Amino acid sequence: MDQFSYRNGELFVEELPVRAVAEGAGTPCFIYSRRTIEDHYDRLVEAFRPIDPLVCYSVKSSSNLSILRILAERGAGMDVVSGGELHRARAAGVAGDRCVYAGVGKTDDEIRLAIREGIGLFNCESEAEFENLARIAGLEGVVVRVALRINPDVDPSTHRYTSTGKKETKFGVDLERARQFFARYGRDPHARLEGLHLHIGSPIYTVDPYREALAKTAALVAQLAKDGFEIRSIDLGGGFGADYESAQSPPLARYAEAILDIAGPLHARGVRFILEPGRTIVANAGILVLRVLYTKTSGEKRFAICDAGMNALLRPSHYGSFHFIWPVAPGAELVPPRRALDPGVSGTVAQDVVGPLCESGDFLALDRQLPAKISRGDLLAVFTAGAYGMSMASRYNSSPLPAEVLVSGSRADVIRARENYATLVEHELKPTRLAIGATAAPLAETAR
Ligand code: LLP
Repeated sequence: MDQFSYRNGELFVEELPVRAVAEGAGTPCFIYSRRTIEDHYDRLVEAFRPIDPLVCYSVKSSSNLSILRILAERGAGMDVVSGGELHRARAAGVAGDRCVYAGVGKTDDEIRLAIREGIGLFNCESEAEFENLARIAGLEGVVVRVALRINPDVDPSTHRYTSTGKKETKFGVDLERARQFFARYGRDPHARLEGLHLHIGSPIYTVDPYREALAKTAALVAQLAKDGFEIRSIDLGGGFGADYESAQSPPLARYAEAILDIAGPLHARGVRFILEPGRTIVANAGILVLRVLYTKTSGEKRFAICDAGMNALLRPSHYGSFHFIWPVAPGAELVPPRRALDPGVSGTVAQDVVGPLCESGDFLALDRQLPAKISRGDLLAVFTAGAYGMSMASRYNSSPLPAEVLVSGSRADVIRARENYATLVEHELKPTRLAIGATAAPLAETAR
C-alpha cells in the first residue's frame, strides 16, 4: 500500500525514521515517499497497458514541482485546471501538448496562455466556453483541439461536494445536449471538436460507476459516428480510490479490468484513451506530521491540541473525511495492526484531535480511539494525506504553510521550504497606488 511502516515501535518512511525527518523539517510538515509515488504510477500504467493511455496526473491533488517531476520523468502528462497548474506543469518540464485542460471557468488570459503553451486538449465544459475558445483561437490564428466534457448522470456514491458526474452539478453537458453540441460546433475551423471527456467524481470505491459511464459514452460515440463525427480521444478522468483505511480501495488492476472490457474495442478502433489520476497515486504516498502542544479534558471530552488542523488538512472538517492518525513513536506494544476506525489496539481512549485555530470546525478527528498516553510533545502522523492535503492548505490565522519533504530511500529533501513570518507578509510590505483606468496585466505575464 505504501512505504510508511512501524519498525520497533517507531514509524519509518522508506529507510528513515519519521521522527528525525519531522524534527529536521519542523512541524507541521508533509512527508512524501518517492517509492510509493513511483510504485503507484507504475501499477496504474501496467494495469491499463492494453489501451496504452496517456496518463495525465491530476496536478490539483498534490502540486509540488518535485512530485510533478517524478511523474514527468516516468512519462506522465498532466491534467490541469488553471493557468497556475499549467505553469507548474511546464515548470516541471512537461510539454504543453501532454497537458489537458479542464475546468468550468477558464479565463481569457488562461485560454491564451494554454494556446501559447500548445495545450494538448481543452476539455470544454459549456457552449459559452466553446464559443469563447473558438473566438480566441480565431483571433490568435490557430487551431486548438477540444474534447467535450460530458456529464453521464452517473452516481459515484461519494461525498456530494466531490460528485461531479450527476446532472445537477456544474460540470460538462448532459448526453442529450452532447449531440446538439457536436451538430452546432463540430465543424468549427479554429476549435476542432474531436474528443469526449468525463470525470464522474472522487473517490469512487466501486468499478460500476465507471462501467456505467463508459457504456453511455460508447453509445454516444456510436451515435456521433452516425451523425458524421469521429471521436478520436476519450478522457476517463480520475477518481480511483486510495486506502484511507487498510485495504479500502480495490486494486488498480480491478478498475482496469472493468474499464478495459468496454474501452478495449474502442481502442482497437483507434480511439486514444486518457486518464487523469491524482489521489490513487499520491494519497498514500504522503503523511502530515503534527506535534501535540497540549492535552485537555472538558467534561467527558478529551482533546489532543496540535500545531495544525484544518489549515494543513481541510478534508476532515470540509467533507467529514476519515484520516487514520497515530503517534509516530507509540512503542512496540501500541503498533496498530491496521489503519481503521478501530485499529485493533487496547489501551485507547476517545479523543478529538484538533488544531490551534479559532474555530470549532478546526479538527482532524472527532472521538477517535487513540493511545491514552498521548501527551505534550508527542508527534502524530496523519496518514493518507498526500492528496488534497498541501494543495488545499491555507494560511488561515496567519499560519505559515508547512514544509514538504520528499524521502527517497535514506535521503530526505525539503521540496517546499516551510513558510515563515516574512513570507507571510511579503506581498503586503509595499502598498502600491492603483492607477485608476489601468488594466491589470495577465498573470502569465507578471510571472515572467
Ligand atoms: N480530473 C478532473 C477533471 C477532476 O476534477 C479531478 C478531481 C481529477 C481528475 C482527479 O481526481 P482523483 O483521481 O484525484 O480522485 N478535494 C477533494 C477531491 C476533489 C477532486 C476534484 N477533482 C478531496 O479532498 O477529496
